[in-house]
Amino acid sequence: MTTSITNGVSDLHLEGDKMTTGTEDIVDPWNVVSSSDKGIDYDKLITRFGSSHIDQELKDRFEKVTGKQVHHLLRRGIFFSHRDMHSILNQYEAGKPFYLYTGRGPSSSSMHLGHLIPFILCKWLQDVFSVPIVIQLTDDEKCLWKDIKLEEANKMAYENAKDIIAIGFDINKTFIFADLDYIGQCPEFYRNMIRIQKCVTFNQVKGIFGFGDSDVIGKICFPAVQAAPALSTSFPQIFNDKKIPCLIPCAIDQDPYFRMMRDVAPRLGFQKPALLHSVFFPALQGAKTKMSASDPNSTILLTDTPKQLKSKINKHAFSGGQATVEEHRERGGNCDVDIAYQYLTFFLDDDDKLEKIRKDYSSGAMLTGELKKVLIDIVTPILQSHQERRAKITDEVLKQYMTPKKLNFD
Ligand code: TYM
Repeated sequence: MTTSITNGVSDLHLEGDKMTTGTEDIVDPWNVVSSSDKGIDYDKLITRFGSSHIDQELKDRFEKVTGKQVHHLLRRGIFFSHRDMHSILNQYEAGKPFYLYTGRGPSSSSMHLGHLIPFILCKWLQDVFSVPIVIQLTDDEKCLWKDIKLEEANKMAYENAKDIIAIGFDINKTFIFADLDYIGQCPEFYRNMIRIQKCVTFNQVKGIFGFGDSDVIGKICFPAVQAAPALSTSFPQIFNDKKIPCLIPCAIDQDPYFRMMRDVAPRLGFQKPALLHSVFFPALQGAKTKMSASDPNSTILLTDTPKQLKSKINKHAFSGGQATVEEHRERGGNCDVDIAYQYLTFFLDDDDKLEKIRKDYSSGAMLTGELKKVLIDIVTPILQSHQERRAKITDEVLKQYMTPKKLNFD
């Protein structure tokens, strides 16, 4: 049975929020597991979560409205699903404002390559639409879910903020905040949290997030914390008391929070937040799981040296190649499961080069070692320049991004 908390059209499918795509795939904010080497069945996930495909019509509209070619993460279907993106484009076409919201749960001091994906798209969207972005660091969440002290989680939030700043967000249009610091300073944020908490029952959060009787009560209240930044009035220093529509780019694991918020927002007099969902950047061992900071061998960290990167890719990246060179030349490799190829789809922006690699690897003209070398040659300079930009972020710069202030926004 599907339960709705409003009488109108609802995004809150409690049954869907058991978060399995049929029998095998598990997708929730804490687990991503598929039984297929090709990874999650994202079409099924769209049906189950009730979102919409990012189809060619939407991509064409993006290009028409902005006058720019869409980013390769959109072009290639890495961002594959959305909610209400057309309303955001309508808003923009009418010359009306919107803002971006995304976030990170600081569970480790270094982020990994997969974490970059939503932030890369956010930076592109910020540049193309010239809009403000708010970035939430949920140190409170990580303290509640993991064996991490408040102080440690808070410290990691600031380390992660440096990685996020290094992606290149506009200092005059970006506010990054750690929950443990900002919420206590901003009564409007706390008030919105309580308003949201008042709209959602325990039964509903149990249905959406799977909480049980032995979960600590902090977890039960937390969804309101992650939902509150989708209300512009949580940031009076930026938006005053204006109700501005919000667009949230993230991987699809975070959708449950915003499905909940889409039911609540109209009851509080706000537009439902719009979303852009990405697929998961897979673990080195294969697409059955996402890259995750909790397994070092599955993960390329933003702090990895060129030597570590090379060794991780050569040793651990799952290959779609054949067992012997002769067999590979004869039968070719399988790009659908090959991790080096999959990673190139995220990081090689040249469509023609990518297509040539796909053809050469599939026909057997290119060997696994050669494909891995292409990937290493592409990702090494990306990591090195990220590390150089990060090293230049002083405490003063960090403070500027993280102090509540008016942004360059009318
Ligand atoms: P966290 O820290 O797990 O992840 C941060 C962002 O990265 C995405 N992500 C991935 N994307 C692609 N491939 C992967 N392997 C991968 N792993 C993680 C996540 O979807 C997320 O967008 N609770 C959140 C923090 C948060 C947030 C938000 C995220 C607070 N407010 C608003 C998105 C939008 C968390 O722990 O994210």
